[in-house]
Amino acid sequence: MDKFVVEGGRRLDGSVNVQSAKNSVLPLLAASILTERRVTIRETPAIADVSCMAQILRELGAEVSFRGDDVTIDSANACSHRISSALTKELRSSVFMLGSLLTRFHRAVIAYPGGCDIGLRPIDIHLNALKRLGVDITERDGYIFCECERLRGAEIPIDFPSVGATENIMLASVKAEGRTLVQGAAKEPEIVDLQNFLNAMGARVRGAGTDVIEIEGVKTLGGVEYLPIKDRIEAGTYLIACAVCGGEVEVCGAKPENVGLLLHKLRENGCKIHIKNDKIRIASYGRLKCNRRIETMPFPGFPTDLQAQVTALNSVCEGCALIVENLFETRFKYVPELQKMGADIEVKGRTAFVRGVKGLHGASVVAGDLRGGAALVIAALAAEGTSEVLDLSHIDRGYSDLRGKLKGLGAEIKRVRI
Ligand code: EPZ
Repeated sequence: MDKFVVEGGRRLDGSVNVQSAKNSVLPLLAASILTERRVTIRETPAIADVSCMAQILRELGAEVSFRGDDVTIDSANACSHRISSALTKELRSSVFMLGSLLTRFHRAVIAYPGGCDIGLRPIDIHLNALKRLGVDITERDGYIFCECERLRGAEIPIDFPSVGATENIMLASVKAEGRTLVQGAAKEPEIVDLQNFLNAMGARVRGAGTDVIEIEGVKTLGGVEYLPIKDRIEAGTYLIACAVCGGEVEVCGAKPENVGLLLHKLRENGCKIHIKNDKIRIASYGRLKCNRRIETMPFPGFPTDLQAQVTALNSVCEGCALIVENLFETRFKYVPELQKMGADIEVKGRTAFVRGVKGLHGASVVAGDLRGGAALVIAALAAEGTSEVLDLSHIDRGYSDLRGKLKGLGAEIKRVRI
């Protein structure tokens, strides 16, 4: 196991390029088995979740090869529709494989998906939608058995704009007979990226980015070479790190409109934000002011994946902040670790009440999930003295070379084997 050792209190200055979006690349990898032709996804991030999805595809019989950051999938010889529990337990995005496997084989067997421990994370919306498309589903001993004679297009209203369920429906209906209409769809940029990827393969999907997506089933899908969108959550993480530490950082690659609400909140803190094409420049000097209230919401609301990071930011701002987590039941598990560093935060259910303190002090803290771990690193960068962040396996799932990128901005951070 590794840990980060961080000497806090240093400004961040310079520029950083963000990776391709983890939450786009993962559904694209799932979509790669929709065709027997070759698929190449360019500039994939070197993160554990991508390696795990590659392993899942290999387990199905696909050939997966990396050339630098580009990954090529040749699933002509894919023959299995079963994914082992060991792999599906590793990550949430294994659940998207249901849609792809059903389109490819009309059968799928997966264990309940894993992913960050941030809430119950049921998959009822996924399964109810697949049933509407004609899939018979039985759940037994922790496994989900799906099969269908054929996939028939349907109208699918969904109660909550679930990102994964929206993506699963798209993957299961691209070659279904007839038209599928998703009403109440998630509107995240990663959904638009999946639509563009599928249409580049010859699919007929439209409406992604709105709450109604229409998929006209087609007979065949071809190969594709595709460059995914950049990671808006990674971009936000570096912007918040600079806000907390002070300094001037240019974050390159992410579309500013995809981090829109965060930029508004950072200006509210007192940061200067300048936008030029896909470059977002932030300047942070002196003590910032707390955001009065931040509520996480589905896109285009404030992203839940930046909730932990802005809570760390507010813990060293002047005043008080109310952070409300509306998407996941237990996404404040990192707070006790922040409190070890001197943060004054009280959590009641889905609300964290933050009283800003003048400064944090170094401590040894343990990451419990991906974004909570990123928040602890941000707090360590700002804390006076030395901090350790343990259990980096969570952070490695979603950030490629976090240490190297922060060091490039002037942080004093080492990765040590223990
Ligand atoms: C995706 O997870 C992302 N993961 C998450 O990012 C992100 O936090 C989340 O969307 C919300 O934006 C990937 O894309 C791989 P949801 P997903 O289905 O699809 C409830 C990160 O840090 N729900 O939109 O699992 C669910 O319990 C990760 O990169 C049901 O009730 O999220 C939650 O309360 C963490 N039934 C809410 O919807 C269902 O069938 C949002 O979940 C499905 C979801």
